[in-house]
Amino acid sequence: MALQKDPALELQELTDRINYLNYQYYQNSVSEVSDYEFDQLLKRLQELEEQFPALRQPNSPTLRVGGTITKNFETVFHKYPMLSLSNTYSEEELREFDNRVRKAIGSDVEYVCEQKFDGVAISLTYENGQFVQGATRGDGTRGDNITANVRTIRDVPLQVHGEGFPELFEVRGEVFMPLPVFQQLNAEREETGEQLLANPRNATSGTLKQQDSAVVASRKLGCFCYSFHTFQPLFDSHSESLQAIHKWGFQVSDTWRKCSSIEEVLAYVNEWEVRRTELPIATDGVVVKVNSYALQQELGFTSKSPRWAIAYKYAAMSAATRLQGIQYQVGRTGAVTPVALLEPVLLAGTVVKRASVHNANEIQRLDLRLGDMVFVEKGGEIIPKITGVDLAQRPADSQPILYPTNCPACGTPLVRSEGEANFYCPNDTGCEPQILAKFEHFISRKAMNITDLGPETIAQLYRTGLARNVADLYDLTFEQLCVLERMGEKSANNILASLERSKATPYDRVLFALGIRFVGSTVARKLAEQLPDLEALRGATYEELLAINEIGERIANSIITYFQDQDNVQLVERLKQAGLTFKSSFKSPEMESDRLEDKTFVISGVFQSMSREELQQLILSHGGKVVSSISAKLNYLVAGDKMGPAKREKATKLGVPILSEDEFLEMIK
Ligand code: IVH
Repeated sequence: MALQKDPALELQELTDRINYLNYQYYQNSVSEVSDYEFDQLLKRLQELEEQFPALRQPNSPTLRVGGTITKNFETVFHKYPMLSLSNTYSEEELREFDNRVRKAIGSDVEYVCEQKFDGVAISLTYENGQFVQGATRGDGTRGDNITANVRTIRDVPLQVHGEGFPELFEVRGEVFMPLPVFQQLNAEREETGEQLLANPRNATSGTLKQQDSAVVASRKLGCFCYSFHTFQPLFDSHSESLQAIHKWGFQVSDTWRKCSSIEEVLAYVNEWEVRRTELPIATDGVVVKVNSYALQQELGFTSKSPRWAIAYKYAAMSAATRLQGIQYQVGRTGAVTPVALLEPVLLAGTVVKRASVHNANEIQRLDLRLGDMVFVEKGGEIIPKITGVDLAQRPADSQPILYPTNCPACGTPLVRSEGEANFYCPNDTGCEPQILAKFEHFISRKAMNITDLGPETIAQLYRTGLARNVADLYDLTFEQLCVLERMGEKSANNILASLERSKATPYDRVLFALGIRFVGSTVARKLAEQLPDLEALRGATYEELLAINEIGERIANSIITYFQDQDNVQLVERLKQAGLTFKSSFKSPEMESDRLEDKTFVISGVFQSMSREELQQLILSHGGKVVSSISAKLNYLVAGDKMGPAKREKATKLGVPILSEDEFLEMIK
């Protein structure tokens, strides 16, 4: 028999190997193994950790994939306050800063110039080379403990690499969302009819405050570090610190440069104002720091910021122009969003005629009036936005903007639910732009992919009454299509063939195509995996929906509400009759017995002989149901290791029997 490897040893070897490979990949851009091999190593480590939970290391690389839930972020005090920088906007002011510094020091000084990253500041604490805490800036004195979320950021080393680091230290940097991830996120939000995120910085800040660290992991945040803090000074200068933390495994942007005069500083500023688009993160200027720590100490701080550093901010790409009107657009979900119509103005190389105003609150907040001279800015965001009003130029007879009370397209009174920033037109079966947008979503590439139907044909079909909803598309005949204006026989045939082909579209994409609010393509896939046909989905209770990974209250509510509406039920039924796929091809577990029929289970903690997913499958395969929350109606709580005391207490109080793993296995034996 082959000798069994000591699990503790295997786990340590795997951890070291993965950490090393990560370091090579992220720090040195070297892939020593294929993605597949890397995933296998990580998978083996996960298996070992599930099998031997006591061996799990606090900074295991498996934590990168997330899954830790933080309900409330604890407040933590910063050991060193997180200050801000004073800003300058001109060459002249930068020269004044240099004069002040040289006057105080009495000689020329060396500076370090860096990018001013436009992300979210973070403080990272290490003890004995292990990452122990990640905190937001907060008010500079205390911030939020977001450690679990920070662990998922690949640029943040969980263990320091190499040697020579002190027992306790802090590194600070800027967390950011790479532009492609931001664009993808907004594309998904557009798909689900959610408000778009204004810029990558807001998206980063929202991501860091997510309760589920798996969501954070999926956003692929990055982190550039720019400072090092210890009680015992270890280095003589900032540049030495940057070199050292880089060697220890922190990501330091290699854009920094030592400059020995203000002329060199200005050359850096001018160079990077042009080159900033090469970077994966938006920058809004340059930070200039005195390099020597001794000189930094001599210069000291004001109450808010260091005297040894300054931020030179690029002038925002902004222009002033006249607000000519507001147009209200009705989206697929009925959301009515205002768009500002502007007198055309040149901004950062393009002519801008429209700008986003986000929602009604924004009109009020800015006190926008028709005819106002407004400032338009193009920042990290793609669409320009109005940032303010030039009150000095306000016409005497300017009129406040009255937000419409009725839908601009169909006249139905608008509604606004509590907590929502947008007004909605509730007429989802009779409001033309809403319906046309629903059609367009249904036929889109990621949904039913009916490529031969374009927006113009859809509008024609709708207006002639041939298709009032998406189910009508499948009743269309060749004769009906041929009589449409500008429609040849060939196009009519193509459309019919395209519709026919679409019937084979997999269930998850059909679900996505329905356009249920908040059900984007990822959520649709999850639903199709867990509730393998239409009947299962329609019959799912709120608890059952919540038990599915990635489905929260908002999505669960939206699905329940969708199927409460008889129009929707009928529509889906007609689509089913037409032959669309409403059954998942994902394998549902083979039924092994009905021993657990009608019994509900909550699973909590870590199990010895199987993963949580395996336990869930086992319950399903014996006819039981898995739910997420403990109530008096629950039949059993299956408790593994590391189950929180609150769950145990709640189950005991409500008289819900608690099963150990062995007791559960006994039940189905
Ligand atoms: S040094 C007191 N370096 O700017 C020293 N900050 O206005 C402050 N920032 O909260 C930190 N890039 O979020 C420093 N290269 C850089 C920076 C940077 C961006 C942000 C940071 C800080 C804010 C200060």
